[in-house]
Amino acid sequence: MCGIIGYIGKRNAIPVLINGLKRLEYRGYDSAGIAFFSGNKISVRRCAGKIKDLESAIKGEKLRSVAGLGHTRWATHGRPSEDNAHPHRAGGTVLVHNGIIENYFELKEDLRKKGHVFKSETDTEVISHLIHSFLQKGLSFEDAMREALKLLEGSYAIGVINEKEPGRMLAVKKDSPLVLGLGDGEFFIASDIPAFLKYTRDVIILENNELVSITNKGVSISALNTGKPVRREATRITWSPTMAEKGGYRHFMLKEIYEQPRAVADTIRGRVFPERGEVNLEEFSLRESDLRKIGKVFLIACGTSWHAALVGKYMIEDMARVPCEVDIASEFRYRKPIVPKDSFVIVITQSGETADTIAAQREARKLGARVLTICNVVGSTSSREADSVFYTHSGPEIGVASTKAFTTQLIGLYLFSIALAKAKGGIASGQIKELFSELLQLPEKIKKALQINDQVLKIAKKFCYTRDFLYLGRGINYPIALEGALKLKEISYIHAEGYPAGEMKHGPIALIDNSMPVLALAPDDQVLEKILSNMEEVNSRGGKVIAVTTEGVKKVFAHASDILFMPKTNSYLTPVIFAIPMHLLAYHMAVLKKCNVDQPRNLAKSVTVE
Ligand code: AGP
Repeated sequence: MCGIIGYIGKRNAIPVLINGLKRLEYRGYDSAGIAFFSGNKISVRRCAGKIKDLESAIKGEKLRSVAGLGHTRWATHGRPSEDNAHPHRAGGTVLVHNGIIENYFELKEDLRKKGHVFKSETDTEVISHLIHSFLQKGLSFEDAMREALKLLEGSYAIGVINEKEPGRMLAVKKDSPLVLGLGDGEFFIASDIPAFLKYTRDVIILENNELVSITNKGVSISALNTGKPVRREATRITWSPTMAEKGGYRHFMLKEIYEQPRAVADTIRGRVFPERGEVNLEEFSLRESDLRKIGKVFLIACGTSWHAALVGKYMIEDMARVPCEVDIASEFRYRKPIVPKDSFVIVITQSGETADTIAAQREARKLGARVLTICNVVGSTSSREADSVFYTHSGPEIGVASTKAFTTQLIGLYLFSIALAKAKGGIASGQIKELFSELLQLPEKIKKALQINDQVLKIAKKFCYTRDFLYLGRGINYPIALEGALKLKEISYIHAEGYPAGEMKHGPIALIDNSMPVLALAPDDQVLEKILSNMEEVNSRGGKVIAVTTEGVKKVFAHASDILFMPKTNSYLTPVIFAIPMHLLAYHMAVLKKCNVDQPRNLAKSVTVE
């Protein structure tokens, strides 16, 4: 997610903007820039790289200004570069943006036909040209903004300044965060509170479609579509700056677990055409004809991303009936794999820099396979070396334990499976619309799933000092048992194993006694009865069972001492919902054990070595 800071007031705006961007660095970014008034003109300074590079670039200029905008870019459209860095300008209109404009391509084509010349690959630049085009028609700055925003589809948080009205800033948000800072004779906008917390603690959290107009005299808020004044009370923030970086959450991991409704919504955004019952194949840089030729799919990844690959196998084979092979990257690269000519390789990696995954990707390409990477980082090695990329728009994932990146990887695999099934003629459009309908409800269902947090904490308190933990799952949820076990291992250092529930009697059942808690994933699906029997096998040996099941499933009461009821969804998306308690349980166990949740011992966020 990009970082935005805007300032109007009595200080020199330049250091305020630079310091504000530095407080937003934790969000992750690949380029930075500022725009500021010099008299009635607006100057812009941008660079690819870090804020310190921007500082070096402007060092000798001794810049001063009373108003300006700053931005750190987390690339979603267009590679990291100076041309793609914000702020973006069209004529005297200069702006910064955080979000995804879904219809930017059509708008850009239309503006090009009207003679507009674009300098970047970004969706953002389209907004500056739209506002500029309405200004050229004689509209006021505010009306030009309102008219331009009516044409946008997608998510945005925008700060705009204009040479026609020096000293005025406009800001608006829709589904991307934007906050107002109210100082003494100075005013701020930012994508997150830490950016201006050292100057003021009085904050207004903007709501969707509220237009803010700021001058050094004050702030006025109006409804975007009607222009009617909106009264909003300021909130006094008591967080420390460090807590503020985590949005008030104690750890980045918890913040990222709670960001999942937004992360999943952003990853879906612009990728489906529900009314047509089609996946937007451009987002995979694939054509239906490419998909039709696929005879076999390989899914290759490491760690949590490998768990996503295992879920993907169930989705692809069940929906598209195309054989699918899953490999741990460090195995694939050395096992002399047999990759038939009509193979299609999907590499899954949050960071796009995992050494084993990149090596496996290169091996697959050497063997002649076409490679799609499902990745969270624009411009990463894996994304640059793939034939096509599907970006999970989860935003930067700071916690070493992957959470929102994992669930958004599953969204990418779900969409790919639907597209492949459609290309192979194995799925009717009515069924696709049902799959889309369930997908579009998912963010709200994730929000609902997160409400079990307090129950999970109670369970964590009961078991946080256990030495071993067994996770059981069946079918598409077996990988979620693996994921639950990995999360517990990597952040609480408790030994845990994920197992296919049907395998328990072939060995692990010897471990069961009253000191061995067993977590069973028991969704309301065709193997529910089987997993209930596995739970009974544990109970009859004195084991303790924690059940994660679908709301309304009453049968589990007879087999589990602790039960978490999760919102119902279709079988393919159940792993997304069931991952929530897995991550929350590991988180709370680790906190209770006073472990370093965000930076667990011995682990790195991206394993860039073999
Ligand atoms: C996830 O919780 C782990 N930190 C780790 O297993 C991770 O998934 C693995 O290293 C792969 O990373 P990648 O997705 O960036 O390739």
